[in-house]
Amino acid sequence: APFLPDDPRSRADLGALREAAAGCRGCPLYENATQTVFGEGAAHGRVVLVGEQPGDQEDRQGRPFVGPAGRMLDRALEEAGIERGDVYVTNAVKHFKFKRMAGGKRRIHESPNVSEMRACRPWLVAELRVLEPDVVVALGATAGKALLGSTFRVTKRRGELIPMPDPDVLGTPAAARAAEAAERAGDGDAGWNGTRLLATIHPSAVLRAEDREAMYAGLVEDLKVVAMALG
Ligand code: URA
Repeated sequence: APFLPDDPRSRADLGALREAAAGCRGCPLYENATQTVFGEGAAHGRVVLVGEQPGDQEDRQGRPFVGPAGRMLDRALEEAGIERGDVYVTNAVKHFKFKRMAGGKRRIHESPNVSEMRACRPWLVAELRVLEPDVVVALGATAGKALLGSTFRVTKRRGELIPMPDPDVLGTPAAARAAEAAERAGDGDAGWNGTRLLATIHPSAVLRAEDREAMYAGLVEDLKVVAMALG
């Protein structure tokens, strides 16, 4: 039977989690997607990058950030001086959500809704608990909300190191409150496990932008803050 991340079978390690997530039926998105796209990368990496959901390529290949947004992200990471060996990439939602135009073949990305994000959150929480990264990077608005709740605005807080709330409250108003309280306490390391969170734009926003150069430079600048935090 399919099982969820609170099942002890999925608690052991990332391999077990990935296996468990492959059979997830926690929301309806598994019905039309090709497969679960679980996170991957450095198990001892110090940075976890959180995207929105797999895209068309990711859905086909079963790996996160392998399409155009992934190539953009790779470039930006390299330019910011963040080594791939330090990075684990994952998504707030682990199945591709899409629609087709009548009779069309092309699969058009649709943003996940709040209940899909909530259904998928335990996987992200479990990944973070196993990985215990130094910095969690939210790529774009969906990831920002998945982590710090629906009131979070990437546009207002991008590029800032924010104390990471305990993974158990992620995505709820309590997460935003915890982050604010830790920030008021004034200790840069305060928060869960000394972990910090930084939000920035999604690499696809660079691809869609009119002024790509400026958007890309902004992404790199934010990622440099992460690189600095790693020391
Ligand atoms: N966009 C995302 O948010 N995640 C991916 O894995 C690919 C594209």
